[in-house]
Amino acid sequence: MSILFESIKVGNFTLPNRIAMPPMCVYKARDYSGLPRCFHRLHYPARSLGGVGFIIVEATAVSPEGCISKNDLGLWSDNQIEAHAKLNYEIKKYTCQTTAIQLGHAGAKGTCGNILSPSGICFSPEYQHPKTLNTQEIYEIITKFKDAAIRAKAANYDIVEIHAAHGYLISEFLSPLTNKRDDEFGGSIDNRMRLLSLIAQEISPIIPFGVRISADDWEVGGNTIEDSKIIAKKCAELGACYISVSAGGVVSKPSLVPELKPMYQADYAKAIKEVVNIPVIGVGLITTKEQGEQMIEGGYCDIVAYGRELLRNPNFALYAAASEGKNEIIDFSYQRAF
Ligand SMILES: Cc1cc2nc3c(=O)[nH]c(=O)nc-3n(C[C@H](O)[C@H](O)[C@H](O)COP(=O)(O)O)c2cc1C
Repeated sequence: MSILFESIKVGNFTLPNRIAMPPMCVYKARDYSGLPRCFHRLHYPARSLGGVGFIIVEATAVSPEGCISKNDLGLWSDNQIEAHAKLNYEIKKYTCQTTAIQLGHAGAKGTCGNILSPSGICFSPEYQHPKTLNTQEIYEIITKFKDAAIRAKAANYDIVEIHAAHGYLISEFLSPLTNKRDDEFGGSIDNRMRLLSLIAQEISPIIPFGVRISADDWEVGGNTIEDSKIIAKKCAELGACYISVSAGGVVSKPSLVPELKPMYQADYAKAIKEVVNIPVIGVGLITTKEQGEQMIEGGYCDIVAYGRELLRNPNFALYAAASEGKNEIIDFSYQRAF
């Protein structure tokens, strides 16, 4: 049997297979409501019905100014809990019984006014100039992550994924390119990690958490995989139940981008897997069952995230299962089709 269809434990949860849907914004909430709508209740459950074992719901803002766009999902108000709970209810009717929600703050990559950042550095000329956060405001953001995690739990998500990747707020604190602070939140890697660590410490007693990191900033003077190994180890020590290994996003035109070929981020995942003893999620131009198997069998990761492939083909996992004769994961209504 394909290793993709072996179950795996993430924290106390057992995933039925190793095919994951990584967080992907669909920008379908409406005008700062932050509410999942009909589209979300079709989109995510379709992947669960399509056999995906682990769904991580898209970047969800912890505050309105932490939105990437006005159509982001949000969990900054108790009024948003019910719609998220409905979404979870629909997802869990099918294969995926364990859901995560990625909680994030857009930082300098926000587009919603009053944008905030560690050091007031503009992401690119098209973006607004961000305000530099003072210490009190940093602690207010930590509280917003905590409150959003309480709401995530109330909405029946099983895990919160802390979005510490792609140049959004936490990632901006992590990177020496965007964090020029000289207080306890800047300078050494321990200090640059302080925001992530404090958020993790607040969330940990509430709900299990995973962390998504950018393993490499792809820019001179930025974080490299060596820095990311330190960050990942610390996340594991803080109780993370998985690390999801992505890359880039901190600078708008990085000069050290690797060739974008299938599995191009695999080596980053492997390097992280070598230093932590929790599951590692690998991602990046993985589009076939064979590539996914190679990722796990080659010791690169434990769980394979199929991003754009699952946007194209919600039934990717069903095709992969059918090619193994593993038809039992196919909903009986669809069995005659495979
Ligand atoms: C439409 C779209 C939206 C995305 N939104 C998010 C997001 O909300 N959070 C995140 O961490 N990554 C996001 N990503 C990155 C994906 O999770 C994934 O890492 C990336 O697409 C690479 O995987 P792939 O080659 O399998 O698509 C997004 C990617 C796409 C294509």
